[in-house]
Amino acid sequence: MRKDVRILLVGEPKVGKTSLIMSLVSEEFPDVVPYRAEEITIPADVTPERVPTHIVDYSEAEQTDEQLFQEISKANVICIVYSVNNKKSIEKVTSHWIPLIIENTDKDSRVPLILVGNKSDLVEHSSMETILPIMNQYSEIETCVECSAKNLKNISELFYYAQKAVLHPTGPLYCPEKKD
Ligand code: GTP
Ligand code: MG
Repeated sequence: MRKDVRILLVGEPKVGKTSLIMSLVSEEFPDVVPYRAEEITIPADVTPERVPTHIVDYSEAEQTDEQLFQEISKANVICIVYSVNNKKSIEKVTSHWIPLIIENTDKDSRVPLILVGNKSDLVEHSSMETILPIMNQYSEIETCVECSAKNLKNISELFYYAQKAVLHPTGPLYCPEKKD
């Protein structure tokens, strides 16, 4: 059985990565957050799947590309966070983040991705129409979720999905194109 799960959050600046982590930990929305949250470890007995879980934040303001690449290669699952009220942050999911992650992960070890649409409190409509074609395009994406660090909506679900993606992946066990 797996020893632990390492969850990394990436995405454009200001989409709410740090707020999501702080909201999960303190169960309330923090008005002021640092650029980057300290790495936190959730003990096995308080996680849904009973496995110690590390949550790792990323901030362009405080980290180099090299540090980011290292964190990507250490992660067991990566949450790509965008803001549902920011089109640019959604575009960057496919133009920047997914290719960057694929480049920096070992081809043989499948790292599941989760698309996270934060700030759902700010919009009436859902971003799913935009997100579904991306889900269909990349088999690496395990699931997607819309949430709000502010309303605490779907926050614990998000981290549960991330844990589950590592412990019970639903993707293919091997890549058919590798057989020749
Ligand atoms: P960087 O560290 O710069 O990459 O940004 P970040 O992705 O960590 O975003 P951060 O958590 O610093 O949040 C950016 C801004 O968005 C802050 O003003 C937050 O208060 C706000 N914010 C974060 N989550 C939510 C949310 O769910 N709803 C609303 N309305 N605002 C949010
Ligand atoms: Mg941050």
